[in-house]
Order: sequence, then structure tokens, then C-alpha cells
Amino acid sequence: MTSTQSARDRLSSLSSHIMGSSSPSVFTAATVAAAPEDPLFGLMKAYREDPSDKKVDLGIGAYRDNNARPWILPVVKKADDAIHNDPTLNHEYLSIGGLAEFTSAAQKLIVGADSPAIREKRICTLQTISGTGAVHLGGLFLSKFHPQKPAIYLSNPTWANHNQIFSNVGLTLAKYPYFSAKTKGLDFNGMIAALEAAPQGSVILLHACAHNPTGVDPTEDQWKQIAEVMRSRSHFPFFDTAYQGFASGDLVRDSWAIRYFVEQGFELCVAQSFAKNFGLYGERTGAFHFVSAPGPDAAPACSNIASQLAILQRSEISNPPAYGARIASRVLNDPVLFKEWEADLRTMSGRILEMRQGLRDRLEKRGTPGSWDHITSQIGMFSFTGLSEEQVLTLRSKWHVYMTKNGRISMAGLNTNNIDYFAEAVDSVVRESAKL
Ligand SMILES: Cc1ncc(COP(=O)(O)O)c(C=O)c1O
Repeated sequence: MTSTQSARDRLSSLSSHIMGSSSPSVFTAATVAAAPEDPLFGLMKAYREDPSDKKVDLGIGAYRDNNARPWILPVVKKADDAIHNDPTLNHEYLSIGGLAEFTSAAQKLIVGADSPAIREKRICTLQTISGTGAVHLGGLFLSKFHPQKPAIYLSNPTWANHNQIFSNVGLTLAKYPYFSAKTKGLDFNGMIAALEAAPQGSVILLHACAHNPTGVDPTEDQWKQIAEVMRSRSHFPFFDTAYQGFASGDLVRDSWAIRYFVEQGFELCVAQSFAKNFGLYGERTGAFHFVSAPGPDAAPACSNIASQLAILQRSEISNPPAYGARIASRVLNDPVLFKEWEADLRTMSGRILEMRQGLRDRLEKRGTPGSWDHITSQIGMFSFTGLSEEQVLTLRSKWHVYMTKNGRISMAGLNTNNIDYFAEAVDSVVRESAKL
């Protein structure tokens, strides 16, 4: 015990004596250490507190319009208005598995309406607390029911929360190489070698599209090779899809990898988020899908799995929230609204693509040292700029530009009002470090 701690304990017992309190505390500051602040939410707080009128927020992965404001998708506003005027709706509980019209539409959206998995009744779906809840439910299921309890392999790097979610449910974590610092693209050979070396039957977490944080995705041909290695090693694919339609603007293209793996007969699972593609961040709208491998046992196995998932869900959240699922369900099940949604997706992905091109052009025009083609070859919400932690900290202290320490920027934070300023800031810090 440190001397500060023992002084604190003496003070606390003295104060109990004076105040007449008799209940001893189990959870003292010494028993529960302070957890570090979530780096991303800490960054958002620092941004909010910065009084500069030049400040730029490139931290959080949420879409912003050209005025740096959150954007309510016009189609979501329409569905929302319809819900408010619907006299048949009430605030009763949903079922444990969620809103049936939503889960069946979510299924079709990710594996395709004509998927053999749907036809053969070997896919089950539960509505979850957005993508995070889906990742968690999948992790929990694997940790409880996988007979071998294999390690789960995460890309290096990955969405930081993967580490916490999977370790919290007791899974062993392992990594596979993903990003090449040299090419700022995919370390494909490293990834394949790690998948080949991983123990037979490992669980492999794969980002379906718009990899977070790097923005680097395998090509279709590379996905085929990944599938081949995974089949030969009997690995289990765990897909995380948080950016369908948001990455390329095309829902089918962004679900290509998942559909390919299903077509190839894999047993797999998918955590699906509707936070980004519907702009329903705070409404926590998502789904977890389990697909059994084709075969005579597939449908009964899938039905058993659904029943066990329901028990896990019941013990954790009882039943999922209704509001976001009602909005998404209206859009997904109405062909006219669906078309409008696709247009909204193109608006978001199109603006991001423009910002990518705009940033690359500006840096190249200035002759900023280094190559910048990765800004346009990466895809989705994020770009892994390759800026060092030191450069990131200078951008924050000197230029009021906020981004995560690993050099990731949220492209949605750039707009026609701040892109010149940001390019000037990057140019300046890169040149300064080149002088050192
Ligand atoms: C890779 C990945 N998975 C899952 C999520 C889950 O997000 P949410 O819980 O908001 O749907 C995110 C969000 O940033 C993500 O980037």
C-alpha cells in the first residue's frame, strides 16, 4: 500500500467516525483502478473544448455534410414522418429476435434475396444493438458453443473495439498482418501466410468492405484466394459489415465478399450495422446472422442455433430497441423508398470520393514529400494517411486538426471549406519532419 493510499484510508475511517457511517466500502478507489479514457471519445471532447474557429474534426467515423454537420438522410426523414403518423404503432416490446420485417430484409440485403442460404432455411438472424451488439452476440455465441474454443484472428490493425469485445467474452485473441506501412495497401502475402499458419479451424474476423481503420480492402481475386486458404485450413469466417453501400455507393458490390463465401458453402456469421449507411448511429440498429454450411443437418442446426442465440439475447438485452429498426424496415421493404435510399448512399459515398480526390490533388500540387495515391485507392469512411503520431500531435497542437494517433482520418470530416486548410497543415508538418 502506498503512503497516499494509507493516508486516504485513515482519512476515510476518520470521516466515517465523524459522520457516523457504518457501511464499509468494497469498491474503493484502490480496488477499482481508473480506466483509461476511450481514445476516440477523449479526442471528441478535446475537439469540442478547442475554441479555435479553424478547428477540424477528422476523428469520429460519422458522416458529415459539406457544412460539417450530421446529415439526416432524406429517406430516413420520410420513413420517420410515416412512423410518427402511423396510428397502428405503439411502444410494446419487440420479440427477443427483433422486428421480423426488419430481420428478414436485413438478411436479403446482406446475402442477396436469391441466396441459397435463405432458400434452404440455413440462415438465422437476430436484431441487435447496432454492429457492436452483433459483434458481441457472435463473440458470446462462439465462446459458449464452439467445441474447440479456437482463437479469433483479428487484422492488424483493426477497429479497436474488436479487441475489447472479444476478450470480454473470454475468447483468445490473435492477429494476422493486414496493412503494409510501405505500400500503404494490403499486406496480402503476410495475411495469407498467417492464415495458412493459424491452427486448423481458427475463427478469422474479416471486414466485409471499407476496412476500419485502413480503408484498404482485398480485391475480388484476393478474396477468392483468402477463401481458398480458409477452406483448406477449415477456418471459420466471422464477417463484420459496418459500411455496406457507404463504401462504393453500391450495396451489392459492398457485400460481394460475404455473398462469395456463402456461395462457396462456408459456415459463417455476419455482424451487420445500419449506423453509417442509414445515419442511424444513436438508434442502435443492427443484425447478427448465422449461416450454416449446406447439408442435410443445416436447417435443424440453424434452428437450434437461433434458439440458443435467443437465450443469450434474452439474458443480455431482453429484446432490441424498436425505433431504428422500424425506420430501416420501412425503407428496406418499400421499393420506392429503397431506390431513394440508394440515391442517398451515392450522395454520401460520392462526397467522400470527391474529398479523397481533392485531398490527393492538393497534396500533389503542393509537392508535399511522399506519395499520396493511397488517399484515392483506399475506400470508405477512413483513410490511413501514413502520418506519424508526432505529426498527428503537431497537427492537433498547432493546426487544431483532430485525428486519431495512428494517422487515421475520417474523410467525412473534410469539406470544401476546410480541405485547403487541411492540405496546408499536412504539407507543413510533413515538410517540418523531413527537415529533422
Ligand atoms: C468495423 C466496425 N465494426 C462495427 C462497428 C459498429 O458500430 P455500431 O455499433 O455503431 O453499429 C463499427 C463502427 O465504427 C466499425 O467500424
